[in-house]
Amino acid sequence: MSWIVEQSGFDPDKITINGNKFMQGNGALGYRGTLEEFTKEQLTACTPAGLYDKVGDQWREPINAPNGLSTRWFGDGEPLGLLTSRHESHMQSLNMRNAVFQRATTFVTSGGKQVEVRSSRFISMRKLDLIVMQVEVRCSEDGELTVETGIDGDVWDINGPHLEDFAIAEQAGIVGLSALTHELRQTVCVAEGIVWSGIDGAEMSVRSANSAYRKAAFACKAGQTYSFTKYVSVQFGEDQSETTQAAMNSVKEAMGAGYERLLSEHEREWERKWAASDVQIDGDDEAQFALRYSLYQLHIIAPSHSEKVSIPARGLSGQVYKGAVFWDTEMFMLPFFLYSQPEIARNLVMYRVHTLEGARRKAAEYGYRGAYFAWESQETGDDACTLFNVTDVFTNRPMRTYFRDKQIHISADAAHGIWEYYRFTGDESALLEGGAEVILECARFLHSYSYYKVDKNRYELLDVTGPDEYHERVNNNAFTNAMVSMTLEIALETVELLKEKHPAFCNELLAKLEFAGDLEHLRDMHRELYVPQPDPETLLIEQFDGYMKLEDVDLPTLKSRILNKNEYLGGGNGLATTTRILKQADVVLMLHLLKDRYSEEVKKANWRYYEPRTEHGSSLSSCIYALVASDIGSPDWAYKYFMKTATIDLTGESKQYVGTLYIGGTHPAANGGAWMAAILGFAGVRLTGGEIVVKPSLPQGWKSITVPVLIKGQQFRLHITANEVVIDSNSSNSTVQTFKIGEERVQAESGSQLTIRLDGAGSGGGLAG
Ligand code: BGC
Repeated sequence: MSWIVEQSGFDPDKITINGNKFMQGNGALGYRGTLEEFTKEQLTACTPAGLYDKVGDQWREPINAPNGLSTRWFGDGEPLGLLTSRHESHMQSLNMRNAVFQRATTFVTSGGKQVEVRSSRFISMRKLDLIVMQVEVRCSEDGELTVETGIDGDVWDINGPHLEDFAIAEQAGIVGLSALTHELRQTVCVAEGIVWSGIDGAEMSVRSANSAYRKAAFACKAGQTYSFTKYVSVQFGEDQSETTQAAMNSVKEAMGAGYERLLSEHEREWERKWAASDVQIDGDDEAQFALRYSLYQLHIIAPSHSEKVSIPARGLSGQVYKGAVFWDTEMFMLPFFLYSQPEIARNLVMYRVHTLEGARRKAAEYGYRGAYFAWESQETGDDACTLFNVTDVFTNRPMRTYFRDKQIHISADAAHGIWEYYRFTGDESALLEGGAEVILECARFLHSYSYYKVDKNRYELLDVTGPDEYHERVNNNAFTNAMVSMTLEIALETVELLKEKHPAFCNELLAKLEFAGDLEHLRDMHRELYVPQPDPETLLIEQFDGYMKLEDVDLPTLKSRILNKNEYLGGGNGLATTTRILKQADVVLMLHLLKDRYSEEVKKANWRYYEPRTEHGSSLSSCIYALVASDIGSPDWAYKYFMKTATIDLTGESKQYVGTLYIGGTHPAANGGAWMAAILGFAGVRLTGGEIVVKPSLPQGWKSITVPVLIKGQQFRLHITANEVVIDSNSSNSTVQTFKIGEERVQAESGSQLTIRLDGAGSGGGLAG
């Protein structure tokens, strides 16, 4: 089965989509899938993780570093580039196995001469500041070729310019272009070293104040190959000369190592990643490809280097969505890492520890206690989300939205993520190094936000926005209340765990937080919190108080009322606001997260009810409908949602622009959702208590799915067909693991292989009727 994402021919209308589709990265750097001759106009971007900047009153966003791969060719004096000259052929590809991007283009000069340019590049998974590119050129006839290659500091900015005070340094042929960020005066440096082969006389020719290029003109003999290799380091830091020196040293070292060695080190890291995570689907090549691609997208943005950065909602695909981290990470991406690379999962949850102060500031700003995490979080945890986050297309006026103030479930999601890390790994270190504090502070905030209704003898959560952002400021959103209840449970369990295992630490923490009185409050609230329940007759769970009284319009009718394709359907005047149409999975998401607490009948009734009313206006929605459809025995319903999720960045079928604002980029939550739909959904794998449960529900045509699973340091390989599950327990495992397959419980010993028959598999009844 192919690992190659490939495209032949050049379509200028696909440049933006290809920028996402052919994206490369290593968690510390993202590089969009553009070509060497492209500039900011084609949204070229090299985006370092965790560096943000603000200019004037505009919103803060990540910066794009100067482009160290910028290269232009001239044949007999004419510029050669896909946007400017004739070409006979073009192809570009991305090998998901080793994350190497290649292009091969044959240009034709006006005199009919063919110039073939090939390049190959990778963003090192071993040395995270390093980009390496090899370029080859060949002519059909003798002639004069010129290459200009360098560092282009004229970068794509949405709200820039972010980089100023450019400086160029040169040492022993290595060039460093550095600049300072506008707001925090951080240094960003891109250094470059080149090894030429067959090309002589390259000279520095500084092109402008913010770019440094070298130029070589040479006589090209027909059929002969000329080449060069570029070693580029991208670094940022406090001190300009230290950062520049570090980047130049890194280039020097890389040049010493050479392309082949750097490539093989990089490939070894990728082998490790795939060994831990690759899922094999037998019987459906399309699904296999799309799922693997989704995992590729997750690997290139996973921070292995730092617990101070997490994964933004658009990954590292530029400045889109302010580079902000949303609940997407915990609820949609974390499961993949928990099951395959817990060290990355740990970094993701520790990010909330490092942004706790920002969350405390936000809670205080609104007059609450505890920690209210940012809806859109950057490096400090202060909320990057503005109060007027949408522009009304009819009046062009900013529209008041309540994403920032009312999506209180974000604090529940953050606490849930930390606890999940503990539950899956058994590693208490995240709790002891700040995670427990985050959990308690989140619970404290949610208590502080709640109301006790004396007439109803219950706690309620009023004036909130749930996942369905089209209905803002509602009361008792079922998902939110259920997540809050779970957070209270987690907080109380955390205290119990610490009391038992780390009593001194526990006492110290409770004393530091002055939490003694809060514990009582949390217990009361947990006992008396109202969580909307299924209606005894219809089994439906009302999304929020009064939802069932809204207009029950169908989706096509609602869409027929749209006057402008970019109009916002939520908020004060939105078309969906007064109806039951929802933006994304809400009650259904709750049924997935708490799948053991609801009966199959309740899940079916709610899936059937909410599915036709969901607009899927968010890329977070489809995977959840896939998950619950599998759970209730309807894998074929799930399949279409799974494919939609898994192909989102391959097809580019998502909104790219609102007005002139680029909102495209990659969709890591959907990528994580594809993994969830396949493994937690179709393969039906989950961890409950200490048991690994497998309850498969495979789509038609899937002969088997093979999944690596790493739980509490123990490695298993599950090979699942419609009739049986084969468990391979790695010989390095140290404990016996209980599995529940169908109704049968088995013990997997280290190094053993067990085969368990599934009787009556797939006879869940489904959604028909
Ligand atoms: C969704 C949110 C999501 C955000 C970032 C919005 O459109 O409604 O749930 O967190 O996008 O992906």
